[in-house]
Amino acid sequence: MSFDCIVLAAGKGVRMKSELPKVMHKVCGLTMIERLLRAVCALGPKRIVIVVGYRGDLVAEHIESLKSKSWAKGIEIVCVEQKEQLGTGHAAQVAYPSCSKESERVLILPGDVPLLTAEVLKEFVDQSKQSTLALLSMKLDNPKGFGRILRNASGSVIAIREQKDCNEAEAQVSEVNTSIYFVRKDLLAEGLQSLKTNNAQKEYYLTDIVSYAVNLGKEVSASAVSDPIYTLGANSRAELYDLELLQRKCIIARLMEEGVTFEKASEVYIEEDVSVAPDAFIGADTRLIGNTKIAAGVVVQGSSVIENSSVGRGSIIKYYSVIEESEIGENCEVGPFAHLRPKAKLNEKVKVGNFVEVKKSELHKGVKANHLTYLGDTVVHEGVNIGAGTITCNYDGVNKHKTEIGAGAFIGSDVSLVAPVTVGAGAIIGAGSVITKDVPANALGVTRAEQKNIAGWAKEKWAALRAQKDKK
Ligand code: UD1
Ligand code: CA
Repeated sequence: MSFDCIVLAAGKGVRMKSELPKVMHKVCGLTMIERLLRAVCALGPKRIVIVVGYRGDLVAEHIESLKSKSWAKGIEIVCVEQKEQLGTGHAAQVAYPSCSKESERVLILPGDVPLLTAEVLKEFVDQSKQSTLALLSMKLDNPKGFGRILRNASGSVIAIREQKDCNEAEAQVSEVNTSIYFVRKDLLAEGLQSLKTNNAQKEYYLTDIVSYAVNLGKEVSASAVSDPIYTLGANSRAELYDLELLQRKCIIARLMEEGVTFEKASEVYIEEDVSVAPDAFIGADTRLIGNTKIAAGVVVQGSSVIENSSVGRGSIIKYYSVIEESEIGENCEVGPFAHLRPKAKLNEKVKVGNFVEVKKSELHKGVKANHLTYLGDTVVHEGVNIGAGTITCNYDGVNKHKTEIGAGAFIGSDVSLVAPVTVGAGAIIGAGSVITKDVPANALGVTRAEQKNIAGWAKEKWAALRAQKDKK
């Protein structure tokens, strides 16, 4: 059966108190609209029509960037603009003409239900295939604010009543509308034509298609979702936070199930697309962000940030390290207090210690930079030792320049390598040198003034200084 989707996402989300449209807010690192589209695309609709409105350009641009994702392949996704937000029914009216000709049914969803899964949707769609109009409902202890599902004495659905239009008896109903509908296209078209604004909010309510169908003698089915978590919306920052915590718990529970150890799960921030292999250890106060991949047996001691980076098997990330868009090979040691900036690449068995910053540089097998160093735009070949306080001077104020250090070289402490510059394999650079010229392989490069020792000079100096002070 071929079907389309309409996603209602034009609202501002007033209670978010934000310049961002509501659906652009994130849960576990993904915008609400991306989360919803991932779930919806998994069902294989013909076309998805997304109604945008408040800052619609921003939402449309975001959606454009999602079209190339693997989960969106083969599905037509279009945005339509609802210039004025005159209600959910009006939003559906705006969307309807952009639906595909072939589809028999339409799955309608709100854009702000971030924890909805493909499984839940699939179950709903599968059981609704015969219905003219099917609703996904949810049962809430506190139904306040939601549209109530009204049923007659025999239990058949007769209408949805919005909170503001409810009488006292209706307000007691705990089964509410999730704003997820699966409807035959012909009925939707007629139902949308029939909408009026004779209600408390003077809006076109999409919910009124229910009584429209009932009046035509059509059966309307409503089934409650297994857990309202899946269909709860986020209308405020507090609700968004609640959903974020729920989802984070789910991610961590799944990873534990797969064999990952968490030192203190409640203190880990982790995003949706992070992967962690079995036998990894994730310490307290770790943030794993974006498209980060942690291999088997990795230890992340804690209080570290790892963003869009990969960490190879058996490596250890010591406390308080910040790793951004970098690649760490197998059996490396990083930190404590290390900073890997974009395009740092550490091959196997590399050690990067405290207060070492690496940017756009490759450190080959076995390289050590253990203390207080900056390596930028640099290639460091196998087995090099970089002494404490070594700096690559890669920036002349206008351009960035490259440094290359050959295999087995030894860079003494407190060396400035003024790029562009090359140190040959096996060379030694004397401590404290400022290297501005290439150093050949196996040579000593040193730029220090020769040391002088003047006997007794200090003793006389001290005496003179003290005498001066006593005179005052
Ligand atoms: C709606 C339902 C209510 C249901 C609740 C579930 C109606 C009349 N009421 O109420 O029965 O219990 O959702 O969350 O449908 N939107 C537009 N254009 C508009 C208005 C809204 O695109 O003109 C979008 C919003 O961006 C949002 C969705 O529709 O994603 C729902 O709108 P919202 O204002 O949150 O509806 P509720 O009043 O909560
Ligand atoms: Ca809502």
